[in-house]
Amino acid sequence: VTRLVAPPTPQPDVARFASIRDATVELAAPLSAEDCALQSMPDASPVKWHLAHTSWFFETFVLRPAVPGYRERHPAYADLFNSYYQSVGEPFPRPQRGMLSRPSLDEVHAYRRHVDEAMAALLARGVTGPLAGVVELGLQHEQQHQELILTDVKHLLSCNPLRPAYRAGPEAVTPERVEGGGRAPLRWHGHPGGIAWIGAAGEGFAFDNESPRHRHLLTPFALADRLVTNGEWLAFLEDQGYARPELWLSDGFATVRAEGWHAPLYWEREGGNPDGAWRQFTHHGLRPLELDAPVCHVSAYEADAYARWAGARLPAEAEWEAVAAPVAVRGNFLESGRLRPAPADARAAASPALQLFGDAWEWTRSAYGPYPGYAPPTGALGEYNGKFMCNQLVLRGGACTTPASHARASYRNFFPPSARWQMTGVRLAKDLT
Ligand SMILES: [Fe+2]
Repeated sequence: VTRLVAPPTPQPDVARFASIRDATVELAAPLSAEDCALQSMPDASPVKWHLAHTSWFFETFVLRPAVPGYRERHPAYADLFNSYYQSVGEPFPRPQRGMLSRPSLDEVHAYRRHVDEAMAALLARGVTGPLAGVVELGLQHEQQHQELILTDVKHLLSCNPLRPAYRAGPEAVTPERVEGGGRAPLRWHGHPGGIAWIGAAGEGFAFDNESPRHRHLLTPFALADRLVTNGEWLAFLEDQGYARPELWLSDGFATVRAEGWHAPLYWEREGGNPDGAWRQFTHHGLRPLELDAPVCHVSAYEADAYARWAGARLPAEAEWEAVAAPVAVRGNFLESGRLRPAPADARAAASPALQLFGDAWEWTRSAYGPYPGYAPPTGALGEYNGKFMCNQLVLRGGACTTPASHARASYRNFFPPSARWQMTGVRLAKDLT
């Protein structure tokens, strides 16, 4: 029994709609038109495309079907800014989004205003029932793309030898330390196992992939009470972790070899000198490696190898959710402006123990698949999540690029195990049996 959103869906809030749409525009504000047009790799999209595609979503799934006589901004946008919905048209090829020098950034902003004005008029007339659910889905979708704007533009800027900052930021919050290891000692948070209820509980919005809520049998386990730090990762690296096949899954070691990985994405030696100090590229430009901050931009392969090196393993998604479900959703999210993970002790006031929410998405060892009884919704929006349930792993918790209101314990993010350009980090787990 699958539902797209938890009923009852309240009447969409006009002010909330405007505030989420405006937040997307604000994220693009520090960027030039050239920054917004480029595509650094097939997985990442130009910021201009994100700005247009999120508008396309409302035009395609709300305005065109629900507003008689709605005048679209341009007939070609229906395919140009369609991401992957095969049942509503012919999506423009993803790897070629960076070729779209037209429409201009100004025109894309005008497209956004066109859609926003039509949406404001619709919402003012009142929207209820399933259409209200689609409006809410559009806002949640918009927030997903806010995060993607930040991660995609970080990758783009990292490709530029000038290492430009997305925006000016404070100097490093904590001084670089010379010894390895995280400042906060790693402690283990035990769980007795047993039957846990997993999945969206029906309070507030949830994506279809978080349902149906179901029982899951857990054996006794423990989760680390914080994320793995850069300092700890450095110890793995200096112990030749990337060169020891016994630590790696077969696909992982093959990827390390093929890609030439020797450190997390965005780590580089100062001046390109093999003995230079480690630096990490951030939204605020190149910075000294913060040894106490959580490691970020590692693939699931690297996370898995690190866990094996550390005598532990990655959590299963049900283990993570069983621990996180009663914990308040607070942490280092997009709104903090930090745009990189924070050391556990620097964020004590903002977050409860366990560092579960915010900072970095946490790889799990769970394959992204359907929960028992899952069926995608009927219609085009059934393409939103279900068709990607193959060859990907689940990530939990949200990151420093995630809007705070977008995170929850049942949220299932998913990426292929080789992906590194998202804000992906590591929490260790172990068996207690
Ligand atoms: Fe999308």
